[in-house]
Formats: sequence, structure tokens, C-alpha cells
Amino acid sequence: MNPYILVSLVLITFYSYSQIVLDVFDSPSPPRSLIDFEYLECQQMFDGNSNSLARGTLFKFNDSVILEKISESSRKCEDFQRIFQFFLEPKSEEELHFPLAYGMLIHENFVQLSLLLSAIYQPQNQFCLAIDGKSTQEFIDLVKMLSDCYPNIHYFVTDEIVWCGYEILTSVFQCVEYLAKLPSDWKYFQYLSGVDAPLKSNLEMVRILKALNGSFNAEIQPFEYYRLRRKMPWNSPLPLFKTSLSATFSRESANFMISNEVQ
Ligand SMILES: *[C@@H]1O[C@H](CO)[C@@H](O)[C@H](O)[C@H]1NC(C)=O
Ligand SMILES: *[C@@H]1O[C@H](CO)[C@@H](O)[C@H](O)[C@H]1NC(C)=O
Repeated sequence: MNPYILVSLVLITFYSYSQIVLDVFDSPSPPRSLIDFEYLECQQMFDGNSNSLARGTLFKFNDSVILEKISESSRKCEDFQRIFQFFLEPKSEEELHFPLAYGMLIHENFVQLSLLLSAIYQPQNQFCLAIDGKSTQEFIDLVKMLSDCYPNIHYFVTDEIVWCGYEILTSVFQCVEYLAKLPSDWKYFQYLSGVDAPLKSNLEMVRILKALNGSFNAEIQPFEYYRLRRKMPWNSPLPLFKTSLSATFSRESANFMISNEVQ
């Protein structure tokens, strides 16, 4: 297997955001009574209106109503599903036959994570959630609940993750490995953080990923050797390259990565 490497194509299907709750694309929103929201004046923000920008920046999403509802519930899966309305059936034949896999590194904001998942969740897709080891027990318990409620949501708790730490890489790789070993016939892997928001529907992503035709989509740059310091020998038998974690690649590539002896 020899995946093509498309260096120039940067596929923007996700956009990182924080603390601004969107009406999640293509998916029913939780009831307004449960969700804290703020109408942001987007056009004014783009025009540089400082009051609108300040409102947008200062808005902090208050998720306590939903968290309380879930924590008090004795039927957590039913209540969670009622609030977030994950698609419990594939939306189309085409999507059913092209399942997607997601690896995510997460550490807080369960409600925001659930909003993201509600947009990309379909029963044929697979989700691996790597929880930062320094997350609160409350957060870990909530993610565990998710994985108890939905058979295609998997999680594990990693070592503590520090900014730019090596654990980021090993956690994501652990997800790739986990997903590649699943019996599910998923076709493409995407990496997300818990605070991304989809810009494309699942069907649009299926079509984009089909068009990639097995290509490995990543931004690749020459490796900055000074970063190695004394951690590894400089005389690596392979030339090293640096890429973003936000790579998108096929199941075949994932299988190759986890079975290749050079890891
Ligand atoms: C969040 O909302 C709850 C319920 O409406 C309220 O009691 C609480 O004070 C709010 N928290 C913040 C930080 O605004
Ligand atoms: C898709 O990839 C295969 C090789 O894996 C190639 O034979 C075929 O021409 C490609 N199709 C397109 C539309 O590029």
C-alpha cells in the first residue's frame, strides 16, 4: 500500500472555536430552554464593531442546566438522547456504506463536546475519545456514560497531557490503533479536538473523502531537527518530516501505520 501524499490540499471541514455555541450544522438543536445562548452580531463583528466583538469575546457558555439535568437523571441515556438528539439511523444509504472514524483528544466542556458529536454522530461512524489524564473525574464519568449509551463511542484516559507534549501524539496514535482494530469497515479517519465545529454535513464529508480516493491528506514540512535536542539520535535512518495532527487518511493508511514496524 502506497498512500498518495497530497501536500498542497488543505481540507477544511472543521473549524476550531471556543465557547461560542452554534446551531450545530445539520442536526436538531437542544431545546432553547436548556441551552445558554447569545445572539452574536456576526456582520458587525466582521466589520470590526468593538462592542459586538467584546460581547462575542466575553460570552461564556453556561452549561449548568444541562449538566444538572443529566446528573440528576435516573435514565441518563434516554435523557441525554432527548437533549442532544443524535441520529440513531444512518441518514442515507450512501453514508451507511461509507462510515467515518474520528479520533479526538478532549479534556473539558462536556456539553460542547456533546454538541459537536450531535452533528457528526451516526451509528455507522466510530469515535475514539482520548481523555486527558488531568481531566476532572466528573468529566471522565460523563464521557464514560456516553460510551455506555452509544456502542460506537469509545474512550480511554491518557497520561496527563501537557502543551506540545509527546503524550498528544501517543494518545492520537492509540486512537488510530484502536479504531483500526475495530471490526467496523470505516473508510476515513479525521482528527478533532473537543472544541471543533463542523462546517460540512456528514454526507458532504463522505463525498469529499470519497473524492480523495485513498489519498493521505496532511500538511508536511521539513522537520526542525533542533527540536530533538538529546532525545533521539540525529542519524535517523529515515528522513524526518513534520506534519499537523489534523491529518485525514484512509483506513488502509491507518492499517499500514499500526502494522509497520517503524512507528
Ligand atoms: C448558570 O446558570 C445557572 C442556572 O440558570 C445559574 O444558577 C448559575 O449562576 C449560572 N452560572 C454562571 C457562571 O453564570
Ligand atoms: C483512484 O486511485 C486509484 C489507485 O488507487 C487509481 O487507479 C484511480 O485512477 C484513482 N481515481 C481517480 C479518479 O483519481
